[in-house]
Amino acid sequence: MGLIPALERLTANFTRHTGMRCNLQVPQSEVEMTDEQAVVIFRIVQESLTNAARHSNAKRVDAVFRCEPEAFALEIKDNGIGFDVQNMRKPNTFGLVGTRERTLRAGGEMDVVSKRGRGALVRVRIPIPGGMQPPEDVDSA
Ligand SMILES: Nc1ncnc2c1ncn2[C@@H]1O[C@H](COP(=O)(O)OP(=O)(O)OP(=O)(O)O)[C@@H](O)[C@H]1O
Ligand SMILES: [Mg+2]
Repeated sequence: MGLIPALERLTANFTRHTGMRCNLQVPQSEVEMTDEQAVVIFRIVQESLTNAARHSNAKRVDAVFRCEPEAFALEIKDNGIGFDVQNMRKPNTFGLVGTRERTLRAGGEMDVVSKRGRGALVRVRIPIPGGMQPPEDVDSA
């Protein structure tokens, strides 16, 4: 299954199980990416939804996945109780710290923005190698 139907299924199941609204925005057609990139994106959405369900007390979650010319961009935000981002530390898990490590290994970056009472936002950017480069000049010799 491609990433986009997988995300659609994940968010639909999330709403069914938790009763929390989840609005998902994705590209209209399947995106070309490596399995590693797709897995990282999927696991971050999964972890963020699990966190929203377990910790946030939010009414809704908004998830946006975009394919830009130079990067894949992901944002998941909830409108819940928020938390102190300084206190998250759990390497080698699929908690937020582990998720960030895996994102770095896939060549991307992950940010968590939150304050108590202000919800939480997880933002990911995975550059597309070669996205900016001009076409190769194969005949120039
Ligand atoms: N969306 C959220 N809303 C409120 N608090 C959150 C949210 N996401 C994370 N947190 C807080 O940050 C902590 C760290 O989250 P993290 O996902 O790294 O670990 P965890 O969910 O506690 O455990 P696990 O390793 O199973 O993911 C949580 O324990 C919780 O206190
Ligand atoms: Mg977690």
